[in-house]
Amino acid sequence: MNTFTYSYPTKVYFGEKAAERNLPTELAKTGRNVMLAYGGGSIKKFGIYDELMGLLAAAGKTVIEFTGIMSNPTYEKVQEGARLARENAVDFILAVGGGSVMDCCKVVSAQAKTEADLWELETVKHGVPVDFIPMGAVVTAFGTGAEMNNGAVITNEKMKVKGPLWGAFYDFAILDPAYTMTMPMKQVISGSFDALSHCMETYMGSPREENLSDEINEACQRNIIRNLRATTKNPRDIKARSELVWAAAMGENGILKIGKVTDFQAHMLEHQLGAYTDCNHGQGLAVIHPVLYRHMLPEAAPQFARLAVNVWDISPDGKSEIELAEAFIDALAAFIKEIGLPGTFSEMGMGEDTDYRAIAESTILTGGCCRKFTAEELFDVLNECK
Ligand code: NZQ
Ligand code: ZN
Repeated sequence: MNTFTYSYPTKVYFGEKAAERNLPTELAKTGRNVMLAYGGGSIKKFGIYDELMGLLAAAGKTVIEFTGIMSNPTYEKVQEGARLARENAVDFILAVGGGSVMDCCKVVSAQAKTEADLWELETVKHGVPVDFIPMGAVVTAFGTGAEMNNGAVITNEKMKVKGPLWGAFYDFAILDPAYTMTMPMKQVISGSFDALSHCMETYMGSPREENLSDEINEACQRNIIRNLRATTKNPRDIKARSELVWAAAMGENGILKIGKVTDFQAHMLEHQLGAYTDCNHGQGLAVIHPVLYRHMLPEAAPQFARLAVNVWDISPDGKSEIELAEAFIDALAAFIKEIGLPGTFSEMGMGEDTDYRAIAESTILTGGCCRKFTAEELFDVLNECK
């Protein structure tokens, strides 16, 4: 285990009626002007908007609405939010939605406090923002775990880069699984796979020998696989949904990363795919993972073999390490098919003219991956995903 410091700033309110039970106390601590940020309108359709507006009114807040945050939020949208926050002297941001809304608001909270171009500050000058509008999150779509970290994934359309920016942590996160019951099944599945991917990407980093963080991680992976299977059979299963909502938060709340340097090569490749195609994040990962993992053999064989036995219940009897590692990748690919995720880019509707060369060349090569990929090999991976 590497040396580490662990502390966590986000207070989580999990469970039934978590907003009604806890928002009044949290709102009592904030200033008067509250920005209510959300996406394309699902929260209005399914009653969450009315409920939150009622709680905000009861708390005597002036509400400034920041709406239309799109999936794969853009840097331009961040600037719109920051302008709105400044113009209205926003004291607190309440982000209501999935990863896209939560990520967009993290950067709005920082951009509203500075005239500096945050993209330049963070990606060119390697600085980090230090002043933020405080925020809370109400999760309506689970998967990314964005409610429990301070990383935001933002698309810079001009530069054709989808990349990480650092923002604020949420002071609190409301996780009521009932709010997620109206998510389209396609999003439930892709969000759950995203959560599984976060676990795998963390697991595949170093140290690579057995350690406590990875053993907790294996439990999370088993939990996601079991509960996603239950959810595809019965989308109304609130017990399975509750497990998935918390497992997804666990994937990105830092606990599995304690003492580890993570991998996240699949994510870096998928993010650039997203920059060029605006595709669904979890679906892109589902196509990339098995192909990328076949390229990671044999360097990854010891870890893949452990996943085969400890997560996928594959018997080690009579199998070599490399055979077990291959069996893990086969099991992962079969699961992706079983739950209805795409296995190729063409199944995702990716255009023939997609510039895979440019995607490969603009992808970050991560230091934590056991294989030292090159842009050329990532180009091969993308071609095999077609
Ligand atoms: O916009 P509305 O109308 O609200 O519809 C949304 C959106 O279309 C809908 N939705 C959300 N809650 C719903 C609902 N529909 C019905 N009922 C509800 N209760 O779901 C759609 C997808 O939402 P989105 O937020 O885009 O999805 P997701 O949570 O998967 O977030 C994806 C974004 O997060 C980034 C991804 O790259 C992508 O940009 N990620 C963020 C991470 C982080 N900060 O830790 C980590 C991830 O690896 C990921 O990269
Ligand atoms: Zn992800």
